[in-house]
Amino acid sequence: MKEKYCFEPSKTEVILNNTISYTFLKDYFKSYIDEKKVDLSHRVLDYCCGSGILTYCILNFTKNIDVTFADISNRWLISSRRKLKFFGSVRSFKINSFEELVCGGSYDKIIIHYSLHDFPKHLQGKVLNHALDNLHCCGSIHIREPINNSHGFKLYEIIDLIEKLKNIKYNYKLSKNIIFGEYIDVDIQYYE
Ligand SMILES: C[S@@+](CC[C@H](N)C(=O)[O-])C[C@H]1O[C@@H](n2cnc3c(N)ncnc32)[C@H](O)[C@@H]1O
Repeated sequence: MKEKYCFEPSKTEVILNNTISYTFLKDYFKSYIDEKKVDLSHRVLDYCCGSGILTYCILNFTKNIDVTFADISNRWLISSRRKLKFFGSVRSFKINSFEELVCGGSYDKIIIHYSLHDFPKHLQGKVLNHALDNLHCCGSIHIREPINNSHGFKLYEIIDLIEKLKNIKYNYKLSKNIIFGEYIDVDIQYYE
């Protein structure tokens, strides 16, 4: 059965999130992208892009990288397209269901930032397997998710999810910052 989702942020949520992401949090997003070592030869998917700030940081860092940003929300996509229209090498993709994660396939890097915990639990593994299907051999998935008591994953839940994936190597790191609290970074490398 196809899983259909149709939820949209309010206009206020979009305005507030955009304002904060593109100003106060810009350095935070920029340093996250710096850590992931994106380069000109990479095809990148910013999955669940929201405001588009991660795509913006990738392109600001190195113009002409082949980046696709995707989201299930029309309102987020319209807003991020507006922010990213000045970059030539960028593509956007509207996701309607989990079967549509394909987004053109063959990525070198798929970035999933603060989004996987929003998916229904029984679909999180499916999303990651779809993401793996869309990677080049030796491509990687970079996930950052909250692991606070009140919000996000429990540590064992996300590790369990990753452990069930096939043909991967991964490492993870736990960190904390004043804005987001505790979070986990998981870098997954795919091999066939
Ligand atoms: C918390 S926001 C994170 C946005 C962005 N990655 C960031 O860190 O700023 C979660 C995003 O996931 C999107 N989303 C939720 N479920 C989705 C799905 N099934 N497919 C694609 N995007 C989805 C939402 O519309 C929202 O833009």
